Amino acid sequence: MAIAVRPIDPISRPDFAAEMTGIDLSKTLTEEEVSAIHDGMTRFGVLVFHDQDLTDESQVAFSRQLGPLEDAISDLRAVKERRISMDLSDISNLDQNSKIMARDDRRRLFGLGNLLWHSDSSFKKVPAKYSLLSARVIPETGGNTEFADMRAAYDTLDEATKRQIHDMICEHSQIYSRGLLGFTEFTEEERRQCTPVHQRLVRRHPVTGRLSLYLASHAGTILGWPMPEARAFLMDLVEHATQRKFVYAHAWRRHDLVIWDNRVTMHRARRYDAAKVRDMRRTTVSNEVSSLEQAPPPF
Ligand code: OGA
Ligand code: MN
Repeated sequence: MAIAVRPIDPISRPDFAAEMTGIDLSKTLTEEEVSAIHDGMTRFGVLVFHDQDLTDESQVAFSRQLGPLEDAISDLRAVKERRISMDLSDISNLDQNSKIMARDDRRRLFGLGNLLWHSDSSFKKVPAKYSLLSARVIPETGGNTEFADMRAAYDTLDEATKRQIHDMICEHSQIYSRGLLGFTEFTEEERRQCTPVHQRLVRRHPVTGRLSLYLASHAGTILGWPMPEARAFLMDLVEHATQRKFVYAHAWRRHDLVIWDNRVTMHRARRYDAAKVRDMRRTTVSNEVSSLEQAPPPF
């Protein structure tokens, strides 16, 4: 089957979010297929594949062909309470017995952080490069995932703002993102795990050299700034970056697999009926270096 890639909205977003066809992700990929995926990601930042009936094993195997995977350690699910292996993040509303979690289940409430615009694992020193999300069971309505193009967001800033933010470093932690939703009760151990890390606000893509805004709800302050001023400033940037013209909204079909590049996008889940099953599983390819090592050239 010939590999093809076409932008989903060629008129308004010709270089953001594309559909790729002609690859069966459940099989071992050829070198040509691996390069086509990397090239597509470099160009479009988000790739959608339909009709990919994956098992956890096949998802992990094909994800590993794109780079080393992160462990799924940031979802408050204790190892013994996990439904699935540590190679996959459980992005579902199900408990370890595959039952829908109670409305007030702490793990569910923590997971609601995904409703806020973010970039995966920006709260880890070495954050995520690609995320690969597989739709196993989806509700009939709601539960879209939206993606914002952070290259376009950067490009459309005025010069004074570009200069001002050029060398800014932000502090990222899940304490900040969860705090925005009023989720504030963490154990000592969880607080230790959530020690803030530093990330650049402007980063350079190692292949294209394009700059992008590295924002996330996990970003809680800017080094050297008073926190309230930093928060207001970051909120302003998020508002700019998530204008509809920069956003692709993905309406899931069962067996879709979507890959996004966390270096150049933010994403968020949209709400859905808490009584319906939504079973999504994510593998995550590590960026291998911190954003601090992806500095743009001097302004
Ligand atoms: C994720 C995530 C959004 C969604 O898997 O990292 O944020 O729509 N998912 O489930
Ligand atoms: Mn996410």
